[in-house]
Amino acid sequence: MAESMSGLHRSHRCTEVTNALVGQQVTLMGWVQKRRNLGSLIFIDLRDRSGLMQVVFDEPVIGSEGFAKAADLRSEFVVAVVGTVQKRAAAVNENLATGDIEVMATELRILSSAQTPPFPIEENSQTKEELRLKYRYLDLRRPDLQRNLIMRSKVTGIIRAFLLEEGFLEIETPILQKSTPEGARDYLVPSRVHPGSFYALPQSPQLFKQLLMCSGYDRYFQVAKCFRDEDLRADRQPEFTQIDMEMSFVDMEDVIDVNQRLLARVFKEALGVEVPLPIPRMTWQEAMDRYGSDKPDIRFGMELTDVSKVVEDCDFGVFTGALEAGGSVRGINVEGQGAMPRKKIDKLVEFAKGHGAKGLAYLCVNEDGTYKSSFAKFMTEEQLDALVKAMNGKPGDLLLFAADRNKIVWEVLGALRLQMGKELGLYDESSFAFLWVVDFPQFEWSDEQERFVAMHHPFTMPYEEDIDKLVSDPGAVRAKAYDIVLNGCELGGGSLRIYQSDVQEKMFEALGFTSEEAHDRFGFLLDAFSYGVPPHAGLAFGLDRMIMLMMGAESIRDVIAFPKVKDASCLMTEAPTPVDEKQLEELALKVEETEE
Ligand code: AMO
Ligand code: AMP
Repeated sequence: MAESMSGLHRSHRCTEVTNALVGQQVTLMGWVQKRRNLGSLIFIDLRDRSGLMQVVFDEPVIGSEGFAKAADLRSEFVVAVVGTVQKRAAAVNENLATGDIEVMATELRILSSAQTPPFPIEENSQTKEELRLKYRYLDLRRPDLQRNLIMRSKVTGIIRAFLLEEGFLEIETPILQKSTPEGARDYLVPSRVHPGSFYALPQSPQLFKQLLMCSGYDRYFQVAKCFRDEDLRADRQPEFTQIDMEMSFVDMEDVIDVNQRLLARVFKEALGVEVPLPIPRMTWQEAMDRYGSDKPDIRFGMELTDVSKVVEDCDFGVFTGALEAGGSVRGINVEGQGAMPRKKIDKLVEFAKGHGAKGLAYLCVNEDGTYKSSFAKFMTEEQLDALVKAMNGKPGDLLLFAADRNKIVWEVLGALRLQMGKELGLYDESSFAFLWVVDFPQFEWSDEQERFVAMHHPFTMPYEEDIDKLVSDPGAVRAKAYDIVLNGCELGGGSLRIYQSDVQEKMFEALGFTSEEAHDRFGFLLDAFSYGVPPHAGLAFGLDRMIMLMMGAESIRDVIAFPKVKDASCLMTEAPTPVDEKQLEELALKVEETEE
């Protein structure tokens, strides 16, 4: 029963119809949100991506045929309505942008009928995400998702305009690349023409953007799709989008300057939010010591305190054992939570264990100044007093301590701090707190690979004064790398790049690559550098994360039109799927039967 729209032209989107148009004819097209039949009058809420408009059907105005059609309308039918804008006689809807006007229909065409959708198309859906993702095309009709994608488009546009204004060139780099694993796992694409050989999808355009600097393009950017086969979380997708950039003849200050102005522009134009510049900075070491995280949420305090010195002489083996093993004892003060019931404290202990702790020691400062603690019996009164003082503990406070290797202590207390901050509502959810974290370590130790791995990537420039330590003491080398953090989320990161071949060789040596291995993987880059390379540096923002934070979305999936779920599959298309025997043959591939 689909009618043609021929002869009709949409004149406005629903919410573009304003009071100024009262008395005029408009043509609207969209979906029926809902229909109310009052007998002599039929009302529908018409929906398009701009919002809703009430349309009225009155038999004497539209005629009996049109009125009968209106009586047949169901939710999600696609219609065209011609009508006259009028003031609402009654029932002014304050919640609607177009709440005091309506359209009196003079013509109705049903362009498409619709099945009853498997879930209601409405804001703040209570529908399970799996069902929404299976019918993503319906889910995407919901106003909250539409707002997110509209914001995404707007932000991308603002960023493009800003970077072009700043002299950046938008240049595309290949999606089919050479596999140079270092970082996440690659997605591989088999070559038909070269049986047994594979392309890799880019984890980022890193090497190509550095080559573009060698070629003299001096300021590059790209809205770049990146692919990483890694464990997924609420803020991670196997394919995601970076705002990727690289600049020549610059130092860290230049990169930071452009990028914080970019952020200020985006937040001002898209949200009307003022980002005070300069964005504050903190070294990686300070971030870890104060917040237990390299991406601290600085919207609230509850900072970590190192109490190693205070407890070193006590008899609590958990504390002294950790110190003897080269670790530390640190704590957080959860102010005003000293009366927390034991059951709840036990939950915190479990939470800490979930983050790698062997346990969590606690001390409640009672209102009368006495203590209740899991380790009081191992300490003298003086030692306990000194500990409470070091923690700035007052009557009514709850002190939580972790003792272990620094890495674990930071992880545990950092996570507890975030959890308590959230639970206790210690910050304004709608505020934005940016932070640059600088001077990352060049390497981190990988327990799994039993070697140092690059914390950022192998092309990151170390501090000049640390270059001597690249091979002899890798753990002590600081990198000219920086991350931009927003509300405890890593929004972007980058670094100055190594452009001297001797430094690069040392870097590869420290990573455990032989010269041959390095050339095998990255020869084209090293060769390019031998033909004249400018000092260069860059950064990439995670666009999905940026939009997620701007919109206060719970998950990165809410700002991606067609996202994947935790096991990297698409619930709508059911990708990935097995392929035809013939396709495999062409690619000279055989699939081994695996037991589920
Ligand atoms: P990095 O690996 O830090 O740097 O990535 C830059 C930013 O991309 C975002 N991001 C992700 N977003 C969603 N899902 C993922 N799986 C995911 N992984 C990363 C984050 C991150 O901060 N080439 C370098 C940049 C450079 O040095 O210029 C790079 O890719 O927001
Ligand atoms: P235990 O000696 O294992 O009975 O632990 C005594 C107390 O110390 C308990 O409250 C544990 O939760 C806590 N605890 C154990 N290991 C650690 C640790 N590594 N850091 C902090 N507290 C711990």
